[in-house]
Amino acid sequence: MSENYEKINRELWNKKLEFHLKSPMYDMDNFLAGKNSLDDIVINELGDVEGKSLLHLQCHFGQDTLSFSRMGAKPTGIDLSTSCIAKAKELNASLGLNAKFECCNVYDTRQHVSELFDIVFTSYGTIIWLPDLDKWATVIDESLKAGGIFYIAEFHPVIQMFDYPEENISFPYFNRGAFEETLEGTYADPSADLKSKEIFWLHSISETVNALLKKNYNLLSFNEHAYSPYDCFGNSKEIEKGKYVFGSFPYPLPHVYSMKWQKPLS
Ligand SMILES: C[S@@+](CC[C@H](N)C(=O)[O-])C[C@H]1O[C@@H](n2cnc3c(N)ncnc32)[C@H](O)[C@@H]1O
Repeated sequence: MSENYEKINRELWNKKLEFHLKSPMYDMDNFLAGKNSLDDIVINELGDVEGKSLLHLQCHFGQDTLSFSRMGAKPTGIDLSTSCIAKAKELNASLGLNAKFECCNVYDTRQHVSELFDIVFTSYGTIIWLPDLDKWATVIDESLKAGGIFYIAEFHPVIQMFDYPEENISFPYFNRGAFEETLEGTYADPSADLKSKEIFWLHSISETVNALLKKNYNLLSFNEHAYSPYDCFGNSKEIEKGKYVFGSFPYPLPHVYSMKWQKPLS
């Protein structure tokens, strides 16, 4: 593991924020006017969050966390990026919502948040930034009440094998340790004047599943989706409103997976 991944990736996400705030993908005007930023996969699978306490891991600048707040949940978002958390707190205050935010590495969550939650949630582009999923599952476990729900919707490791927008396989399916790259632009704005180093890890489905099985969690649902709810691969077609398919393959690839787990009652 690269020793300084935390510093490099914090700088990356701090720099991305200004471009994301202006991007059509994050659609700030409509979000501020009340649009729910959560996609249908999450809304349909996670179920009612009203009155539930919810820990959102890697919340970026808080759109989804604040959407949970609008849905009646009591959310806390954590993220590594100082600018993203500052923005999330500003949005929460200006919208008059009840979310709490803490700036920290996922692995340090329990040093910043002492509450136990009904739900731990993470989505789209999160675990790729984490070197160790066993340690990640420990943080989830230490944050959930007995019987609580852990929900993840994530880009599928198969789609992450491509160096978008190219259709050639450029990355392994299985975890081969840290990748270090310097990229231009960002997924929400490929033309952004942004050049930044990033360090990431590729986690197969079995690696993710096994991290949670080791905690004796029960898998309540597991789905693979043949589209992405985000137009983030630079070479996608919108097959239905809000459903994007990458590349020109004869059969659709798995783009996203989602899993709902329950912590044992004792
Ligand atoms: C793709 S974004 C989250 C996606 C979210 N679905 C969204 O679009 O709003 C990934 C987030 O992970 C955060 N992050 C990366 N590594 C982290 C770490 N080790 N601990 C906490 N947050 C981290 C970044 O700062 C960034 O805000």
